[in-house]
Amino acid sequence: MQIQFIDTIPGDVRLHALVVNKGDLPAGLEPQVVDGAAAARFKGRTGQTFETFVTRDGGLRRVALAGAGDADAKDRLSALEKAGAAIAARYLTSGETVLALDLGSARLDAVQAAAVILGLRLRCWRHDVYRTRLAEEKRATLTTVNVVNAPAGTQAAWEVQSLIADGVEFTRKLVAEPANVVFPLSFVAACEEAFAGTGAELTVLDDDAMRKLGMGALLGVGQGSRQPSRLLAIRWNGGAKDEKPTVFVGKGVTFDTGGISLKPGPGMGDMKWDMGGAGAVAGAMLALVKRKAKANVVGVVGLVENMPDGNAMRPGDIVTTMSGQTVEVLNTDAEGRLVLCDALHWAQEQYDPAQIVDFATLTGAMIISLGHEYGGMFANDDGLADKLLAAGASSGDKLWRMPLAPAYDKLIDSPIADMKNIGPREGGSITAAQFLQRFVRKATPWAHCDIAGMVWADKPGATWDKGATGYGVRLIERFVAETLEK
Ligand code: BES
Ligand code: MN
Ligand code: ZN
Repeated sequence: MQIQFIDTIPGDVRLHALVVNKGDLPAGLEPQVVDGAAAARFKGRTGQTFETFVTRDGGLRRVALAGAGDADAKDRLSALEKAGAAIAARYLTSGETVLALDLGSARLDAVQAAAVILGLRLRCWRHDVYRTRLAEEKRATLTTVNVVNAPAGTQAAWEVQSLIADGVEFTRKLVAEPANVVFPLSFVAACEEAFAGTGAELTVLDDDAMRKLGMGALLGVGQGSRQPSRLLAIRWNGGAKDEKPTVFVGKGVTFDTGGISLKPGPGMGDMKWDMGGAGAVAGAMLALVKRKAKANVVGVVGLVENMPDGNAMRPGDIVTTMSGQTVEVLNTDAEGRLVLCDALHWAQEQYDPAQIVDFATLTGAMIISLGHEYGGMFANDDGLADKLLAAGASSGDKLWRMPLAPAYDKLIDSPIADMKNIGPREGGSITAAQFLQRFVRKATPWAHCDIAGMVWADKPGATWDKGATGYGVRLIERFVAETLEK
């Protein structure tokens, strides 16, 4: 998608789109547009669209209106993203290749105008590379957006937003690719390519290095796979020299069969996106690095494949984690916490972080609790929790806080080791979070985001098509912007 800012619409561009606030059609439109919109009951509600054909300057023009709701709405930016996304959804496969997007209406400022473009670009992303026989009329045709009449400063605002979109798209691709394409080594290679020349510092630990460090839990998950495991750290020092880094940790299970505690067949293919936490962390780091964030941040991702095999962990096996704590692995399908506990411990030893936030498709129970609207967030620190909730609200990647408590923690005590890797069925997301908390220093503010319900969508949403959503990238980017760069 090429997005360019121009002064006047070239005469051969047929598709002209405008953003319209609720009940506030811009002046100067042809009577066909005004009367047609009224006849079609187009009011300018958020995401509503209308199109009609008119003759302008002697040529046939396809005029599209996209509703952005009330001009003074609290969630104005998200409504404007939805307006842009609605245009994308309607015209991406319409046969049109060029869109003239007129941002001179709806009384937009530069930031608001950039939000329209962001929504449009994000909604256009799709992963069609394997669809070699896709019917001609189902193929994306839109390649160019010519932005006209944009308010002063829009181009500069968009330049920053476009780097964030790069991060979201990087994540979506990692998440959408199948597990024979994205596995620990290729995930690392994709990051090495994406971050080359950016100034970010990448550290990669292989199986041997992790064995020397005693990461028995992470390696235990990977030992049933032909694919070697990796730990990848992406570091960006954009902040003050003496400022301790904020570390983001991601679960990167590139495929989760459940291991010997094998998952049922139906739906197992979904587990290619069990690396969605790692994907979000990598994409967010890419956005932050590209826009040269003024903050010290590190992304750490634990990359493994969870397979059943003669060499795989057995239910009942006891592993020793890097922290020295032992875990009785009663269910090899509760593998995410085993990956994260060693990644969390290593991150604390390595970086002495100011705070840690982890992202993981950790439990099916999280989807039962919150569905697909909010990620679940657990935190040992109210200040950090509140900042994450605020970043969630302003980015659109919404979070809802869940509890931690000693009574839940007790449920994972083991009679033979320091803990077991599962609790009872009830409160399954909470006991998973309690497990992680046992690997976090008491004095370090930490939050855990269980995003199992958020990384993949079965139907199109606000700014995404069905498939990989890129959830988490904008949340992390906003969190850094709002709390570390002030
Ligand atoms: N990756 C899954 C969680 C998951 C399930 C994410 C469905 C997205 C959709 C995780 O590794 C898992 O298998 N969790 C188990 C834990 C249980 C064995 C305690 C679960 O949720 O069933
Ligand atoms: Mn699992
Ligand atoms: Zn998993």
